[in-house]
Amino acid sequence: MSSTRNRLIQMLAEHEETYISGQLLSDELHISRSAIWKHMNELKKDGYEIEGKANKGYRIISYPNKLSENTVSWGLQTDWLGQKMIHKESIPSTQRIAHELALDGAKHGTIVLADEQTKGKGRVQKSFHSKKGQGIWMSIILRPDIPPYLAPQLTLLTATVLANVMDRYANVTPQIKWPNDVLIDGKKVSGILTEMQAEQDQVLYVIIGVGININQQKSDFPEEIKERVTSLKMASGQSWDLVPFIQELLQTFEVKYNQFIDNGFDPVKNDWENYGFRMNERLEIKTGKETWEGLFLGIAEDGALLAEKDTGKIEKIYSGEISWF
Ligand code: BTN
Repeated sequence: MSSTRNRLIQMLAEHEETYISGQLLSDELHISRSAIWKHMNELKKDGYEIEGKANKGYRIISYPNKLSENTVSWGLQTDWLGQKMIHKESIPSTQRIAHELALDGAKHGTIVLADEQTKGKGRVQKSFHSKKGQGIWMSIILRPDIPPYLAPQLTLLTATVLANVMDRYANVTPQIKWPNDVLIDGKKVSGILTEMQAEQDQVLYVIIGVGININQQKSDFPEEIKERVTSLKMASGQSWDLVPFIQELLQTFEVKYNQFIDNGFDPVKNDWENYGFRMNERLEIKTGKETWEGLFLGIAEDGALLAEKDTGKIEKIYSGEISWF
């Protein structure tokens, strides 16, 4: 978003108790008074309530609890993540738009947000329930300089970021179910879908789709998933504003991603295992024709699940049906 608008909101915020004159704003921001007036109208469209009084100036009355490029950008403390942002009210899927943008050369860190998805996409061709204003539906475009086989590490990283933010910000106790569903009280609160375009030894781009159930009540979910899902509101007993939550998420993601690029996967693995659902418990694994039981040990460098067979042999599992006892 234009840094002028950011600075304008900043100045209004600093003068919440008083009016700030159009002249002062115009002098400080080096733009004409009519340009100020136009910015004010744009902000009002985004849901900022601003009072304008002749001879006194402008005063901010309330900030919107509404997603827009402006509301998410203002106060966002990141260097590259979300500095370019596309917000849509209703679209089939943020993944789809993110792919189009990425193919068109969108920058590393571009994000796509929607209030509602009409064809939200889950893993393994499933659909993802993403109703208006009830959660965060977001895709992040990344251009990491890594070989394609390391891309799953980014999915695990994202899961640790989600768990970390929920834990700190909403004071709930999240767990990550391998590979990357985030659960609270054993129910799914968030899912991650990673898609990528790559050449043999180089990632061209990765799109990380994140869906988080925030303000749903049980009755908001479709019958067939009702018993298996939860929202932050159901888990914490209160509603949450989406904007600060997204900002916290982006800020944390940027820090953890930078650490990952600088220091590798070890810190992510540790974080993941701290939140790991049913770590060190027995599980049953069905891979192809074989079904066996073992102990869930954690995750490997490449994101595989590590399980110990009763024979003592340690196996790496990349896909399969896992059930816990
Ligand atoms: C899963 O749990 O199966 C993954 C769900 C991923 C959902 C997110 S919501 C934002 C982005 N856009 C989509 O269509 N899907 C992902």
